Amino acid sequence: MKFFIDTANLAQIKEAKELGILDGVTTNPSLMAKEGIKGQDAVLQHYKTICETVDGDISAEVISTDFAGIVEEGKKLAAIHPNIVVKVPMIKDGVKALKWFTDNGIKTNCTLVFSAGQAILAAKAGATYVSPFIGRIDDSSWDGVELIAQIAQIYSIQGFETEILAASIRNALHIVKCAEAGADVCTCPLDSILGLLKHPLTDIGLAKFLEDAKKM
Ligand code: E4P
Repeated sequence: MKFFIDTANLAQIKEAKELGILDGVTTNPSLMAKEGIKGQDAVLQHYKTICETVDGDISAEVISTDFAGIVEEGKKLAAIHPNIVVKVPMIKDGVKALKWFTDNGIKTNCTLVFSAGQAILAAKAGATYVSPFIGRIDDSSWDGVELIAQIAQIYSIQGFETEILAASIRNALHIVKCAEAGADVCTCPLDSILGLLKHPLTDIGLAKFLEDAKKM
């Protein structure tokens, strides 16, 4: 399973990269706004900086909602760097645009996916990645991880090549459960990645070893 970091914060991206386990980055308009990135030039420059920081797929989201606008914006984003993946919302014109990008050799990430039906459409349109938002599904009292397992089963039966990118990850357990359910990628906040490190018995064991090392 690949690890992407879900942020536009350069310090966090660098920290995850230094761990040596980072395969890519996902962003969205909310994450960009959180970092104070304003205006088209600044947005494009920020994506370029992220691409120069991490050698892996970098999702950059369109904000148009009509076919022509999505294609136009996606072409500009894809021109920034070969690692850019155009992130397209799961709407009617988004599906049409996914197919256009597929036919024109541009990688895509179909975002805002909350059902297996949507995941089937994204795969039919040839999306490189499909992003089910598992944390937001959990928030609405459904089971996000169950959706990952359902999509994994459907894609395997049908032979779809779209990669399942589990998004809206809220904690380390989500990552473990998504790995178990067949996700190809998890995109996570830095805290959730670092949460995988934690176990009290590791801390206790290390303290004891270091104490005993003084007697060696
Ligand atoms: C996915 O690519 C999104 O950027 C992200 O995972 C959304 O997560 P949230 O529900 O925590 O906003």
